[in-house]
Amino acid sequence: KPSPAAALLGDSVTVDRMTYPTDSLTNITPNILAKVGRNLHKLHNHPLFLIRKRIENFFYHHYVNRRGNPIFSVYDSLSPVVTLEQNFDSLLVPEHHVSRAPSESYYINSDYMLRAHTSAHQRDLIRSGLDAFLVFGDVYRRDEIDSTHYPVFHQVEGVRLFTQHELFQKVRDPSHLSIFEEHGKRMADKQEGHSMEAAKLLEHSLKTTLVNLAKHLFGKGIEARWVDAYFPFTHPSWELEIQYKGDWLEVLGCGIVEQKLLHSSGSGNQVGWAFGLGLERLAMKLFTIPDIRLFWSTDSGFLSQFDVEDPNTPVTYKPVSIFPQCTNDISFWLPSDSSYSYTPNDFYDLVRNIGGDLVEQVYLFDKFVHPKKQRTSHCYRIVYRHMERTLTQEEVNVIHRQIETSATKLLGVEIR
Ligand code: PHE
Repeated sequence: KPSPAAALLGDSVTVDRMTYPTDSLTNITPNILAKVGRNLHKLHNHPLFLIRKRIENFFYHHYVNRRGNPIFSVYDSLSPVVTLEQNFDSLLVPEHHVSRAPSESYYINSDYMLRAHTSAHQRDLIRSGLDAFLVFGDVYRRDEIDSTHYPVFHQVEGVRLFTQHELFQKVRDPSHLSIFEEHGKRMADKQEGHSMEAAKLLEHSLKTTLVNLAKHLFGKGIEARWVDAYFPFTHPSWELEIQYKGDWLEVLGCGIVEQKLLHSSGSGNQVGWAFGLGLERLAMKLFTIPDIRLFWSTDSGFLSQFDVEDPNTPVTYKPVSIFPQCTNDISFWLPSDSSYSYTPNDFYDLVRNIGGDLVEQVYLFDKFVHPKKQRTSHCYRIVYRHMERTLTQEEVNVIHRQIETSATKLLGVEIR
């Protein structure tokens, strides 16, 4: 029998270019489907892209091999459609664990779902032979809707594996040490198969890496604290909290990878750590973005604030007017008369003079040279928005025409 969502979608549903039959578990909605493929973490003027670059750079610069090449490989294009086996079973999530409830995740059908965390890719990437990687991606969870919750958000997963030789690299005489222990017991601070030395070195490596990452993102002055946690795929497990501008903020979950997971991935001779971190929460704090819905905005008044060359540029979000934008384009031939020396800044000043604060943004979005006439054409987009009320298109047209007239007269351009 079809679920209510399946009844709405019909017999099949297409997600990320693949078509799946719906069934009684189907609970994805058209609204959620519309988010798949937006890939906010890959948009160059997006706050999530800035955070992602800062995280990537941290790992690229601090973790290099003897030749100076980064050891972490980065994945940002893995499909959010995964099997239930990838999202849960591969991570040792118990059969009746609460996270499997249909009320928690978005199911395409009984076999496929939208990943609820980037951990869904751990097993497969380890199996493919990687031992240091980051995965950036959109993740989907059914949740309440308020200023900090949204059913789609973005995570980065980090995994680092070590051979015995690598883990004990800095130990003066490691010959008597082993990362494994035959008849060990599972304890609060280690797995049964791990030696205490291995467990402690891994914990140290994981915690210093993540505190340094937090300092890289939030500044050297932050306070950090570790809270014990539980995840089915790591033991021991922790959450990192940092104090930033007075508030304690939970930033990530992490732990020592369950040896059973590594064993099933063909890497049973290695040990390792993993972490998963939500990008929106960090970005909201770092850039003072007040509402998580803003990340989905296509408004240039929002996006242009994050359009910076260097990802480390400090950005503090300034709320844009909630009134709608009006966009008008203007194209002209630059003056052929060499007595005019045209620069785009001339045009920007002219626009400011006429449009005043109604102009939110002006940018050059196209230019070309006419092959025969050898004349250059510029095309600008002008975004108009009143801060206190809705502008009408008629009102905007009047200002826009004044700009055209004035540019012809003052700058010597020829409107196309
Ligand atoms: N996947 C976990 C989450 O989404 C975070 C995590 C990742 C925890 C890796 C441990 C190791 O909450």
